[in-house]
This record gives sequence, C-alpha cells and structure tokens, in this order.
Amino acid sequence: MICIGIETSCDETAVGIVEDGHTLLANMVFSSMDLHKAYGGVVPEIAARSHVEAMIPMVDQALEMAFGEDCPDPWQKIDAIAVTYGAGLGGSLLVGVMTARTLAITKNKPLYGINHVEAHTYVNFITGIKGGSMELGGKSYVFPSRQPEFPMLSLSVSGKHSQLVLFRGHFDYKVLGRVRDDAVGEAFDKVARIIGLPYPGGPNVEKASALGNRDKYKLPKANLDTKYDFSFSGLKTAVLRLAQSEIGEDFTFPSFEVAGRLSEAQKNDIAASFSRVAIETLVDKAVLAFEEFQPRSVVIAGGVAASSELRTQLSDRLPVDVQYPDMKLCTDNGAMIATLGCYKAMLGQPTADPYSLSIDPNLSM
Ligand code: KG4
Ligand code: ZN
Repeated sequence: MICIGIETSCDETAVGIVEDGHTLLANMVFSSMDLHKAYGGVVPEIAARSHVEAMIPMVDQALEMAFGEDCPDPWQKIDAIAVTYGAGLGGSLLVGVMTARTLAITKNKPLYGINHVEAHTYVNFITGIKGGSMELGGKSYVFPSRQPEFPMLSLSVSGKHSQLVLFRGHFDYKVLGRVRDDAVGEAFDKVARIIGLPYPGGPNVEKASALGNRDKYKLPKANLDTKYDFSFSGLKTAVLRLAQSEIGEDFTFPSFEVAGRLSEAQKNDIAASFSRVAIETLVDKAVLAFEEFQPRSVVIAGGVAASSELRTQLSDRLPVDVQYPDMKLCTDNGAMIATLGCYKAMLGQPTADPYSLSIDPNLSM
C-alpha cells in the first residue's frame, strides 16, 4: 500500500509518500514562514496564496523523490491519496483538499480525508526509509527502532492543540484531556513575542533557554478540576507580568515594548523558567495517565514534540523506553498524512467522495 499524503492546514505546503504505514518514500515540505515573520504570526491570506504556488511543485518533487526522475508513470505506483480536511485555516485547507480531489478523479485513486491532529501521532509508526537508508532528499533521519504497541498513550502538542489520547487500536481512541484555552505551542509563540524572539517561538525559546537559569523565576502551573485537561493562558499572562515587573513597570505597560528593555540574561532566564514549567505541566499529566492506564507504549507528536526539554523530562520520569519521532516529522508534514492514509486503506476504512469532500476548519478528535 503506497499512499501519498497532502497537508496544507497552516503555513506548510507538504507532500509525503509512505509505504505500508512504516516506510518513508518521500517527505517534501515548503514553508511560507518567512513571509509571515514581519507580522509575528501566520497571515491566512498569505498562507493560502503561497499554497497555490507551491502545491503542484511539491507533489511533483515528492513523486520524483519516491520513484526517481526516470519513472515514466509515478502515479501508477500510488495506491491511495490522503489529504488533511481539518482542522486548520479555511483558505489553506481548501488548496490541499481541491488538489487531492482533482488528483483522485483524474488519476482514479481512492481518497481518504484525514484529521490533522490524529495524523500527528502517526509519524511514530514510521520506522525507516526504503532500502534501509537513513537519508532521503539529502536530509538524514532518526527513526524509532520499532513501531508503538497498543494500548498507546499519545501526548500530542502543537501550536493549535494540546491533548492526551489513549489509543486502544487504530481508529479506537479516547481523548483523556485537552487544552481549555491556549495550546502549549501558542504559549511558546506568545512568550517568544513578549521577550522579543522571532516567530516561530518554540525553537527560539528553546535556544534562549539553553543559556538561561531554569530555576530563576517561579511561574504558576494551572490547577484544573479535571485530571487530564491543560491550560496555558495563566502561565502566559504570568510571564508578561514577570517581564513587566523585571523592568520596573506595572501591568499597564504595553507588552510590545517590554522586550526592548529586557537584558539578554533576563530574556534567557524567562525563557528557561517558562519552558521548564510549560513542559512540566505536560509531563505531569502524561505520568498520571501512564499510572492509571498502564499503556504498552508512550509517544509524542506535534510541533512541540521537537522540544528537547520535553524529551528529557519524559525520559527521566516515565518507567518505559519512550521512542521519539525525528524532529523533522514532528512539525507539520505530509508523511504523517500519508501514514494515517495507509492504515485507513489497509484496514478498510471508508473512502471520501472526491466530488464532495469538504474542509472542516474546526475539526477535533
Ligand atoms: O504541529 P505544528 O508544526 O503546527 C501546528 O499544527 O500547530 O506545531 C507548531 C508549534 C509552534 O507553536 C512552535 O512554536 C512549536 O510547535 N514548536 C516548539 C518547538 N519547535 C516547534 N515548541 C517548543 N520547542 C520546540 N523545539
Ligand atoms: Zn500540526
């Protein structure tokens, strides 16, 4: 089963090709991130326009990566097409979905609509590249040594969602808890903005954290009445108040002027103290869920899964050998869509109608 996956939910135009739900054949990602930097976040209209330009080149390059430039008819090798239909930005999702629908009709292939958040977890099932290589398209990859086993606990954390999910099998899962307000990645992005680091916040906060003192400031963890839900808006506000008080101002001082008055050392200490508490909040819940449900494997997924702080804390606090996906497969990509597409096709899940599949910007698991 060879599936091509198309992902355009945010600012990445991504196409991946995966065989049998475990072997990576292609992973092409074009990001319009540079176009959004000046605005401090993704501008939906700019993202959608960029998808229109990048979509077809990404499909062509992924096919070439998987089957070589001399392959006379790469589409003959594709068994199924999978596409993200939600959640995400409406205009962006439309480009991917219309492309996939058109290809499904013209190439006569079954089409699968994919939930972006569910797909993030599926990169954990990719264990290698065709031919046993560790390199694809000039980039080297690190894979888990084996596929996760069910029951599988997934901590899925990105810029738009944060949730703990218990998978009893493929397509048989229970969301144990989700974020009540800002997703953890969004908190990283907002804290980055407060301390004057460029978008995207996560990787830049991580770099600053490495130079800071993680115990310098005491920041709060949300105390919720549900066992597995998360909340990060209080922590984010606490970082703003802390930064304002560090420069001798009160809460009326404009947040966008704070960074200019913080020293490098203060910025690094704030980044480190925030990262420690934000990640600890996630890991506390993962440890609780591990104790209650005793899963056979624990996996992480989503952009924040690229955080080395998260990896360190999980490995330190869980009594299982946690396997981690390659950093390049944590942020948005087409391989995760193709992998879930493979399982849908292999396990006889219903196909989508290529004449009517519509987008669902607010889709949840
Ligand atoms: O999954 P993703 O690429 O897009 C969404 O579906 O949201 O996740 C992007 C998020 C951003 O908020 C980014 O700041 C965060 O993942 N992120 C990180 C790191 N790398 C990316 N957060 C913490 N540490 C990182 N190293
Ligand atoms: Zn994502």
